[in-house]
Amino acid sequence: MSQSQFVSKCTVDALQTAARTLLEGNLVAFPTETVYGLGADALNKQAVARIYEVKGRPADHPLIVHIHSMQVMGQWVDDVPEYAIALARDFWPGPMTLIFKRSSLAQDFITGSQDTVGVRVPNHVVALALLEAFHNLGGRGVAAPSANRFGHVSPTTAIAVSDELSDFLKPEDQVMDGGPSAVGVESTIIDCTGELPRILRPGAITEEMIKESTGLKELAPSSQFESTPRVSGSLEKHYAPAAKVLLDQTPVAGQGFIAPSRRVTPTGVTRLAAPKNSNEFARDLYAALRKADELGLNEVVIEQPQGDGIEIAIRDRLMRASKGR
Ligand code: TXA
Ligand code: MG
Repeated sequence: MSQSQFVSKCTVDALQTAARTLLEGNLVAFPTETVYGLGADALNKQAVARIYEVKGRPADHPLIVHIHSMQVMGQWVDDVPEYAIALARDFWPGPMTLIFKRSSLAQDFITGSQDTVGVRVPNHVVALALLEAFHNLGGRGVAAPSANRFGHVSPTTAIAVSDELSDFLKPEDQVMDGGPSAVGVESTIIDCTGELPRILRPGAITEEMIKESTGLKELAPSSQFESTPRVSGSLEKHYAPAAKVLLDQTPVAGQGFIAPSRRVTPTGVTRLAAPKNSNEFARDLYAALRKADELGLNEVVIEQPQGDGIEIAIRDRLMRASKGR
């Protein structure tokens, strides 16, 4: 099936149609500020099952429920600690997913049979308009993982989504085009089920920002660099292109190269990205990895940024990408 059959420009009509499409049990891939998501009605078991089929993802991996407003969060979760309210107020809509004890609305097919559920209000006009239209039609929330095949690089454009998934989508499904994602790495996931917040996946909302928002001096120790099956992105091999990812070495002719703009590109090396700062690094990373595969490169050398903030998330993804497929 051709790509153009799926990809829609985001007019008001198209958003209404997409919201109805979701409510009818079909899939709609949509832009968010982090990466594109593959959405289904979070109350529809069959629709959610199709997410797993299309992604080729193991069924026990939980999905994030996307909502248009913090006001709706209470339907999905129980036991919201005060620090989480501060986080939601400060960072939603935004690149942050909060994990709580689930309410009865969050069924086993969303949570991977765990007693917790993840919720997020994304910060993207198209995502928010879609989620609001869905809400106005009576929908409660949209379950959406990143819109890639399991273990692959997350898509940050509509074309990347259709390249990745069009073979698996049905004619009723849709891909909304909202331009390139501005953040470029997946949301920070924060476990809010304990006394203190705990970062499960680093992202653009950093430890410092969480401390500042909550007034807490310390967070619960993070096991983000260990392998816990509950966060599928924390399985070791993940976010991986077909090309082999090599970290922090000198590139040689024939290889691809991703490094800060101050680094020169050696002769015969294909420069895939030259970000000027860490936000650009995050934003351009996944598109650069996809480009490596499009160009048929076998190896990509990446010089990792060594600082804090979002650079922690970049290194986290690169560490997993470098494990290869
Ligand atoms: O930025 C993002 O978070 C994107 C956009 C589309 O919102 N979504 C995303 O979803 O990255 P996904 O499914 O590719 O990654 C979400 C991660 C998974 O590793 C999943 O296991 C974890 O969140 N997760 C979801 N619910 C969880 C829960 N209740 N407890 C622990 N981890 C959870
Ligand atoms: Mg993912």
